[in-house]
Amino acid sequence: MAGTIIGLVAIGAVYGTLCAQQTKVVLASMGPRSVWDGVYTDEQAKRGEQLYHLRCASCHGDKLTGGESAPPLAGGQFLSNWSGLTLDVLFERIRLTMPSDNPAKVGRIPKADVLAYMLSMNRFPSGKTELQYKTELLKEILIEANKQQANVTRQRVLDSARTSERMTKAVLLR
Ligand code: HEC
Repeated sequence: MAGTIIGLVAIGAVYGTLCAQQTKVVLASMGPRSVWDGVYTDEQAKRGEQLYHLRCASCHGDKLTGGESAPPLAGGQFLSNWSGLTLDVLFERIRLTMPSDNPAKVGRIPKADVLAYMLSMNRFPSGKTELQYKTELLKEILIEANKQQANVTRQRVLDSARTSERMTKAVLLR
């Protein structure tokens, strides 16, 4: 019994260290980001716009307002579905299931362009670097309809990263 507990504590400590290190790498490289930080370029959104009209508009509407059976991809309803999640979740949803009649028809890279276009239509600002098509990188970008809320969440992530770092140190130095 005691052995199991010691084992668990050891695993916990190692896991904590790994998490803290990973968090630190992420924080050092870019800090927690949100869709308010300019995560796509205008040029990419333009490419995505063309593709959207070719592959998505027939169901989701020319202005992303939705169609007979397909939901809107911009505006309050859409954003409330996705706020608080990270971009990888939305990207994977598109990657695995859209266009619903044939998801394989559009590749991963053009789908990232369409996502950039969707961000622009949801009035999130553009920036200097393109949105990535790698799921792991999209995991670091928070979707948040409200800019103030995005800042609050960012601060919370930073605080909890610091706390977990402190806790890891406390465990290791005991
Ligand atoms: C043949 C019609 C059709 C096409 C084409 C299509 N979709 Fe959809 N889409 C749907 C339907 C229907 C739903 C809701 C039911 C479902 O998930 O299948 C949906 C749901 C979605 C959702 C989830 C929205 C939410 O808030 O829950 C996203 C995101 C999406 N589509 C993106 C796209 C993108 C991007 C394209 C183009 C690459 C695309 N769709 C093409 C029919 C379509």
